[in-house]
Amino acid sequence: AVRARADALIAQMTPQEKAGQITQYFDFLNAPEEAARVEQEVAAARAGSLLFVHDPAQLDRLQRIAVEQTRLKIPLLFGYDVIHGLRTILPVPIAIAASWDPLLAEQGQRVAAREARAVGIHWTFAPNVDIARDPRWGRMIEGAGEDPYLGSVMAAAQVRGFQGTHIGSPGRLIAGPKHFAGYGASIGGRDYDEVNLSDSELWNVYLPPFKAAVDAGAGNIMSAYMGLNGVPATGSHWLLTQVLRETWGFKGFVVTDAGSAHDLHTHEFASSVPDAGVRALRAGVDMEMAPPFGISAFQTLPQSLAEGRLSTTELDDAVRRVLEAKIRMGLFEQPYVDLDEAQRVLNDPEHRDVARVAAERTAVLLRNDGGVLPLDARALKSIAVIGPLADSARDTVGPWVFDQDDSETVTLLDGIRARAGSGVRIEYSPGVTMPARLHRSIFDSGPHKAGPRVEVDDDAEILRAVELARAADVAVLVLGEGQIMIGEHASRSSLDLPGRQQDLLDAVIATGQPVVVLLMSARPLDLKGSQPDALMGIWYPGSQGGAAVARLLFGDVSPGGKLPFNWPRNIGQIPLPYAHLRTHQPKTAEERYWNEPNSPLYPFGFGLSYSSFEFSNLQLDRSEVAVGEAIRVSVDVSNTGGREADEVAQLYIHQRHGTAARPVRELKGFERLTLAPGERRTVSFTLKPQDLTYWAASTRNFVQDATVIDVYVGGSSTAALSGSFEVR
Ligand code: IFM
Repeated sequence: AVRARADALIAQMTPQEKAGQITQYFDFLNAPEEAARVEQEVAAARAGSLLFVHDPAQLDRLQRIAVEQTRLKIPLLFGYDVIHGLRTILPVPIAIAASWDPLLAEQGQRVAAREARAVGIHWTFAPNVDIARDPRWGRMIEGAGEDPYLGSVMAAAQVRGFQGTHIGSPGRLIAGPKHFAGYGASIGGRDYDEVNLSDSELWNVYLPPFKAAVDAGAGNIMSAYMGLNGVPATGSHWLLTQVLRETWGFKGFVVTDAGSAHDLHTHEFASSVPDAGVRALRAGVDMEMAPPFGISAFQTLPQSLAEGRLSTTELDDAVRRVLEAKIRMGLFEQPYVDLDEAQRVLNDPEHRDVARVAAERTAVLLRNDGGVLPLDARALKSIAVIGPLADSARDTVGPWVFDQDDSETVTLLDGIRARAGSGVRIEYSPGVTMPARLHRSIFDSGPHKAGPRVEVDDDAEILRAVELARAADVAVLVLGEGQIMIGEHASRSSLDLPGRQQDLLDAVIATGQPVVVLLMSARPLDLKGSQPDALMGIWYPGSQGGAAVARLLFGDVSPGGKLPFNWPRNIGQIPLPYAHLRTHQPKTAEERYWNEPNSPLYPFGFGLSYSSFEFSNLQLDRSEVAVGEAIRVSVDVSNTGGREADEVAQLYIHQRHGTAARPVRELKGFERLTLAPGERRTVSFTLKPQDLTYWAASTRNFVQDATVIDVYVGGSSTAALSGSFEVR
């Protein structure tokens, strides 16, 4: 019925209307001339979709133009980067991955979808499921880190959260996993640069989260900007048709990243813009996200059709997929926005609670010497809160946040003040100025808007911060990267603390006072060996971030997050995935550099808590299985400390020999548990045949070997408890 309805519309459409239906325009409301032009395109049925509009009244007004003023009354599909919330801002996606809690990821994106759908948005350009193994790449903030298994679990959970049970579920959006495929591996970590990946890395590392998202029912996929092994992803028939549709059975529609159809010409792949449009469509693109302020390649499709360079069937296939999405979303029945309902949903206090709990569950405690944390509010008289990110609402929420009212955000300083109570004196110093970015990006004025810059005399303010630390019982430093230093078009060639933050940190540590560092970042940073008493990664914790982190600091909850990447000792080690191959020289693996050890500073899966845990009694339900059979692994986890806390039981495998050499460890299961003091629980995992299957270059196919598999279970990727079984 959906297809028949779409076909009935297609039968009435002119080639221009068809091209319009599969063209999406940016609507930059802060560029009035462009907004007026876009409005004309809508009225002339030359636009099927818009992005970036997020004001409910504006969305409703534009929809009325499409439905009431165009010949076929086809509603617009509104897309938007709902990456980690709309009004209620959740922690950034890499933080959610650090929770190792897929239910939290699902719940968080349900809240984001509910707010977005209420204002009239239908589709999100999320989740970002790009694997990132190079922390110089700024967009690692949007993904789930370096691991294909964790990435796949988080990808599927987010698709469920955004979409609900089916496309068109009430209060949900179409999910658009991106960027298909390989974007996270851009050379040198430089955003937009080319990607060279072996087929083995593609199939075993970079594609699995996309496959998981497709299996979870994602209604859309966004093609990537960059070239993959010399072919721009948006022009790759292999990726967009052979892998996505023919091998995986994807049934939704494919959109390009901004301007990527047009850019097949810029890449020197297509001979002209019209050729770019044809080649993108032929590769498997259904909708072009037109270049902001630029020329749309899909608007040249009618001309290519007339010249016989494209068939009507090819054009209609794309139009049908877009119309089917609109039909499934119920837009023909209910195109408009209920403005009162939108306000109710945006102000739902339940959403703020989800955001706070999410932030609590994402923090990763990396160091806690002498148990300086948690702080005891009854024993403390004063706290010095120091650092350029301590009172910055914009940085607390992170990138991909549009027009946020900063007064709705609880900064770290706000949160600590409120939780400490009136009995504790709080003194604050920004310490140093955050450097500005060298280059501007087209997104700076929208989703990555910089906050007001606090400029101080760094030398004088460091001295003041030192005085405050000396006079206080404890110094809490909030350091890291401002949100404009990470995200799209925000790669860095250094992992150092930006500006004079390292000097500030060292000066405060030199006072000898207890020092707690809260690190606001989405990439591992290099603190140059400085050893604060406690170090906690808090990511960009969202609009309730300050409240959540204060609860962690004062021990209302214990940190339980775990790193979704290996944390290198310094930038020279990059890339440093935990799942590397054994090589012919495993004994000297730690000695690869003459100047320092090669192990990470903090391993993948690592994170401390205020309690302690022990793993024991690893059991396999048999000692051998046949190829194609599953095996069960169980382990006891005990809370051996004095308080309720969370631990993440992690299961890794290692294959001893086979068709190809496999990584020293690979994550294949995990479960986050909350245990009371003294409590012991048995956790079970099932290793299925597909967990032991991988893509082998020599067969150019997936294989499962007859081999021996080692199993490791524990609280990080360096887990010691092990067993093994034979696969016959
Ligand atoms: O969704 C994004 C994409 O991730 C990067 N380019 C712009 C798109 C729309 O904002």
